[in-house]
Amino acid sequence: MSAGVELAGSRVLVTGGAGTIGSHVVDQLVDAGAAEVVVLDNLVRGRLANLDRALRTGGDVVRVVEGDIRDVGLVHDLTRGKDVVFHLAALRITQCAEQPRLALESLVDATFTVLEAAAEHDVAKVVASSSASVYGLAEEFPTTERHHPYNNDTFYGAAKAFNEGMLRSFTAMYGLPYVALRYFNVYGPRMDVHGVYTEVLIRWMERIAAGEPPLVLGDGAQTMDFVHVEDIARANLLAAQADVTDDVFNIASGTETSLLELAGRLLAAMDSDLTPVHGEARKVNAVSRRLADVTAARERLGWTPRIGLDEGLRGLVEWWRTEQAPVQAPVEGTRA
Ligand SMILES: NC(=O)c1ccc[n+]([C@@H]2O[C@H](COP(=O)([O-])OP(=O)(O)OC[C@H]3O[C@@H](n4cnc5c(N)ncnc54)[C@H](O)[C@@H]3O)[C@@H](O)[C@H]2O)c1
Repeated sequence: MSAGVELAGSRVLVTGGAGTIGSHVVDQLVDAGAAEVVVLDNLVRGRLANLDRALRTGGDVVRVVEGDIRDVGLVHDLTRGKDVVFHLAALRITQCAEQPRLALESLVDATFTVLEAAAEHDVAKVVASSSASVYGLAEEFPTTERHHPYNNDTFYGAAKAFNEGMLRSFTAMYGLPYVALRYFNVYGPRMDVHGVYTEVLIRWMERIAAGEPPLVLGDGAQTMDFVHVEDIARANLLAAQADVTDDVFNIASGTETSLLELAGRLLAAMDSDLTPVHGEARKVNAVSRRLADVTAARERLGWTPRIGLDEGLRGLVEWWRTEQAPVQAPVEGTRA
């Protein structure tokens, strides 16, 4: 039996669908001709505005349920009759460290509920969001999916690693098909601008727009593997469609960019001639390098990233400027 699901005409649940990545998954599901897309999000971080496009173009297809994945009855109700569940709802790594019990309930217990419901209601496939955090600081680069998870020391990474194990066990116990995707460093439109955990790119854009150079904490030699949010969403759809189950894939660009280089490329994307300045590193970053091997995703899911960093950063800046527009009305002689 094929583990690939036809998305045109399918009925789908997207947990965390109002978030950065989930909302792009919803957009692409509408474009792919899904018959029903139910978003379950409690809006702790996501925003309804992220679904504007989806509700405009797929108004009769998309339904947003403001609710919690910890609500067992609700998750079962919404899973009944679905072909695919895209499970993206989670807390960010920093919040998991601050509130580990809430993280346990939201990432681990609630993922159990999502899988329990998917198995009970004969969902054809679960596509789950994992993370490069499961590797911690890897020992081999480019890092393949076979790298061990024992260098991770974060609660978030531990929860994601456990969830991968739980997915495998549900396949073994109940035959539930799944694919898990380990995203590396995600960026792009709908990144959280207003929340507590704003990303470094957002802080830098704010500074550059105010005529201040981006502040790089430490020497900026730390590298990351950036992957655009639209490419990640496309990986989710391909993971559902591919005749693949019980497997996990790195989703990354397969290139590494240092923080200092990133600052330079963002300056270029904003047509600024400022140069980055360095500040004192607040703490030693446990993960000083990230670089993924993405061969498996290419060969087995047919996925390769399409949006390069410079193009992606320009798009991010364009989106961010639109977001700022109402609060940054230009007033002569003052800084926006
Ligand atoms: N952004 C990254 O760099 C990155 C990297 C690796 C993995 N991931 C994973 O990708 C997935 C999506 O991440 P994102 O960047 O879009 O984050 P996000 O915070 O934008 O989206 C997560 C969504 O889940 C919702 N949510 C949280 N707890 C919930 C709950 N209990 N019930 C219902 N909804 C809840 C939030 O409101 C939010 O809309 C997550 O699983 C995350 O761990 C993200």
